[in-house]
Amino acid sequence: MMTKNHVIYIIGFMGSGKSTAGKKLASLLGWAFIDLDNNIEEFAGKTIPEIFSQNGEEYFREIEALLLRKIESHTDTIISTGGGTPCHSGNMDFMLSTGLTIYLKLTPGQLKSRLLKSKGERPLIKDLEPHNLQTFIEKKLEDREEWYEKSDITIEGIDIDVNLLLSLVRAKLTI
Ligand code: S3P
Repeated sequence: MMTKNHVIYIIGFMGSGKSTAGKKLASLLGWAFIDLDNNIEEFAGKTIPEIFSQNGEEYFREIEALLLRKIESHTDTIISTGGGTPCHSGNMDFMLSTGLTIYLKLTPGQLKSRLLKSKGERPLIKDLEPHNLQTFIEKKLEDREEWYEKSDITIEGIDIDVNLLLSLVRAKLTI
């Protein structure tokens, strides 16, 4: 069983910049970086939109929970999760007990402007008209914050200062 110190999970809504922040933090720490969504696509041999349309969200959530638990055997690793990962299958409790969790917190308005550019690759929002996107984000974020807010560290805003994040991480971990 690994210690809690060697895995960091990056958590947050779709479009909050989890992969970008995770990669930067991994490079500062000299740790490995894993994108859970990429692992799911490799495992399934298809894209996330294809998994949702051909197999359904329930199947996606099963693979997501399965692969998240496999990653736990890694060490010195940053894992960027999907926006829904903490809210299903006991995943948030699992992450809290096996690593350090960081919530990247953006406002609905900030998320909307970022997601408008990339909604095609995200099955939960790809068919929403721009004027419905804000309402969807507000409602979904309200539901999901119950899980997100349990994170060990919360950092707010777009273009976060990764050096500040690094010092918050160092304060929590013995590294
Ligand atoms: C999802 C977020 C996506 C991906 C899937 C479902 C969600 O990841 O896991 O489309 O439920 O919010 P990103 O947060 O990286 O977009």
